[in-house]
Amino acid sequence: MVYGTAGFTAALAIHQLEHNGLERENGPVLVTGATGGVGSIAVTMLSKLGYDVVASTGKDSEHDFLYSLGAKEIISREELQPEKIRPLDKQRWAGAVDPVGGNTLAYVLSTTKYGGSVAVMGLTGGPKLGTTVFPFILRGVNLLGIDSVYCPMPLRKKLWERMATDLKPTILSDLTTEVSLDELPTTLKNILS
Ligand SMILES: NC(=O)c1ccc[n+]([C@@H]2O[C@H](COP(=O)([O-])OP(=O)(O)OC[C@H]3O[C@@H](n4cnc5c(N)ncnc54)[C@H](OP(=O)(O)O)[C@@H]3O)[C@@H](O)[C@H]2O)c1
Repeated sequence: MVYGTAGFTAALAIHQLEHNGLERENGPVLVTGATGGVGSIAVTMLSKLGYDVVASTGKDSEHDFLYSLGAKEIISREELQPEKIRPLDKQRWAGAVDPVGGNTLAYVLSTTKYGGSVAVMGLTGGPKLGTTVFPFILRGVNLLGIDSVYCPMPLRKKLWERMATDLKPTILSDLTTEVSLDELPTTLKNILS
């Protein structure tokens, strides 16, 4: 229950990035929407695996939280949404977990290192993707689609095994609070606000 769909999706993304060649030596791994459900678990799982995690967030107040999850560096959400996105820009990340999509994904693709992969599973930044073929045909960048719903059972089982072992964040239980059934109406109201 602590992992939720978000946690499973983060695990699937990391698994697919590694399946497509991501290794610690390749360079930093970017996580967008880092304080969100998918992003926060991805930060802590990647950090546990020994990756240098760059976390992008729009929340200045949550930097300490992201460092506690294991982020090495924090960048602003705006840095990934420049006004003009060049087809190819300076190579920055060996891989990326991107729950944001939209223009952020276009920028991330144009700044992914040669042979790197970007796993996309969400659209909090919008569903449209305005990019070019250049990251794919000149840098061999891979865009990996992540879907947790129809993920086949054999892979699902493998991922839950990993989520119980090498991907299991040391601080997993700290990410939740237990409430009684009576406290639920107030708690849900707080979550929504
Ligand atoms: N494909 C799948 O199987 C699958 C599974 C689970 C979720 N999803 C999708 O993945 C996305 C994220 O899910 P989640 O559970 O992590 O959601 P969430 O908890 O709401 O987190 C989303 C995060 O995105 C960032 N964000 C919000 N508005 C933004 C904007 N306008 N531009 C850029 N960043 C923005 C925020 O992080 P910061 O403030 O830190 O920037 C926010 O915390 C959703 O679109 C969801 O539907 C897909």
